Amino acid sequence: MKGIVLAGGTGSRLNPLTRVTNKHLLPIYDKPMVYYPIQTLVNAGIEEILLVTGGKNAGDFLRLLGNGRPFGLKHLNYTYQEGEGGIAEALGLAEFFAAGEPICVILGDNIIEGNIAHAAESFKRQGRGAKILLKEVQDAQRFGVAEVRGDQVVGIEEKPKSPRSNYAVIGIYMYDATVFEKIRRLKPSGRGELEITDVNNFYIEEATLSWDILKGWWTDAGTFESLLRANTLVAETGANKMDLHSRAGAATPAEVV
Ligand code: DAU
Repeated sequence: MKGIVLAGGTGSRLNPLTRVTNKHLLPIYDKPMVYYPIQTLVNAGIEEILLVTGGKNAGDFLRLLGNGRPFGLKHLNYTYQEGEGGIAEALGLAEFFAAGEPICVILGDNIIEGNIAHAAESFKRQGRGAKILLKEVQDAQRFGVAEVRGDQVVGIEEKPKSPRSNYAVIGIYMYDATVFEKIRRLKPSGRGELEITDVNNFYIEEATLSWDILKGWWTDAGTFESLLRANTLVAETGANKMDLHSRAGAATPAEVV
């Protein structure tokens, strides 16, 4: 399975913090935000990773991450999203990289405490379709929200005013190669974006979407409140067992630059 980190968009909800830098380069406790989603993929055994970024500071990702040596990687791939046409538009840029293989996609502002290795293994066994991860939250209207009937997810609504459940769809998605054909069928939403929720609903229509509940805490970091929460959670409890400096042969970030 190949991995894709989506780190485009303007981060306008964090203005002025994002006026002169990319949201995903802001600090979460002792590391830049983008370190956490990359480490989540690496911890799941994924070694071929593409970072999609955009905006005026794209070059800073290369200076920060180089070929991914802080994560024990031999190589990192990069691509550039013009504008901010949505999560699904950013993912569409990964078709050439994916080259027909299954993919695990993670949003660049999503941070988890634990590990998705188990979900990745179960998706490999599933063989086709998609897998999403859910987490029970108090503020479901901020997210994609799953409607669950019995053991089926029967629909997902993006930021509903009256959520049908407390289950947020977190920003980690596993897809087969048909995801790119589905992205081509999308129409822009009310907020002018190609929505990942619409992609997931296509898989629900095909009855090929599975889901797991994520263990451990999860947070995004795209608003002032969630950025603070992410910093506090990481500082107090740590995230995805990141242990960059003790990895054999890994350079510290400063050595990479
Ligand atoms: O955090 C989980 C939520 O993320 C899901 O529950 C929602 O269903 C999903 O739509 C998304 O919601 P947000 O509105 O919070 O997403 P946001 O626009 O903040 O984008 C999240 C990340 O996706 C961002 O950190 C970088 C990437 N992105 C986003 C856009 C709009 C891109 O790479 N390109 C883009 O054009």
